[in-house]
Amino acid sequence: MTSGGTGRRNTSAGPLPQGACVTEYTDVAAAADVRAFHRQWLSGVTIITTMVDGRPRGMALNAFASVSLEPPVVLACIAKSAATYQPLLRSGHFAMNLLSADQSEVAARFARSGSSEKFEGLSWRVGRFGSPVIEESCAHLEAAVESRVDAYTHTVLFGRVLAASSSALSPMGYLAGKIFDPRDSAQWQGVITALAPEPGETG
Ligand SMILES: Cc1cc2nc3c(=O)[nH]c(=O)nc-3n(C[C@H](O)[C@H](O)[C@H](O)COP(=O)(O)O)c2cc1C
Repeated sequence: MTSGGTGRRNTSAGPLPQGACVTEYTDVAAAADVRAFHRQWLSGVTIITTMVDGRPRGMALNAFASVSLEPPVVLACIAKSAATYQPLLRSGHFAMNLLSADQSEVAARFARSGSSEKFEGLSWRVGRFGSPVIEESCAHLEAAVESRVDAYTHTVLFGRVLAASSSALSPMGYLAGKIFDPRDSAQWQGVITALAPEPGETG
């Protein structure tokens, strides 16, 4: 199941260009193992949106992370093959909409490739900094693209967060290719080990 092997360290002297790997390895994990690893990653679902030529664009995304709080910066990995890729590069700004547990239809809509018809009949508005904000999302932020890094099939966008807003709505969960409702305790009982004590408990 796992592909072992020993990596060889690149011991060649001299300064490395910025962003270059410090070590070089001759082995690479089997694609199936890597896919299986990713299926064990529990996340939420976000919709990254932008606006180009007055048209809203967007796609489902979970390769998203907080980079820094001061200054507030996030990153998102975008497949170059996505129809939303060029609009994101052109506009230079995006919104990240964290879907709530009741938005399974929205998740399915933005997981399909297409263009602005994804927004037809959807409740959304233009945010303060020009990106589409999807109503009933449990949280959203708007960001300006500060930099981008080419990464094989993807480009990593770094966005300076210009505005962020959240609600008490429950977020959607995503695991092994399926979305689920974290409020459904039947899906969780016996699975979760508390990592932090409840308020009032000794820990
Ligand atoms: C839960 C989920 C997470 C996804 N995460 C990403 C991601 O992080 N980056 C990415 O490029 N595509 C991701 N995708 C795939 C895109 O949403 C999908 O390819 C979509 O059809 C792209 O739409 P577009 O071609 O209209 O831009 C994800 C899909 C789903 C369902």
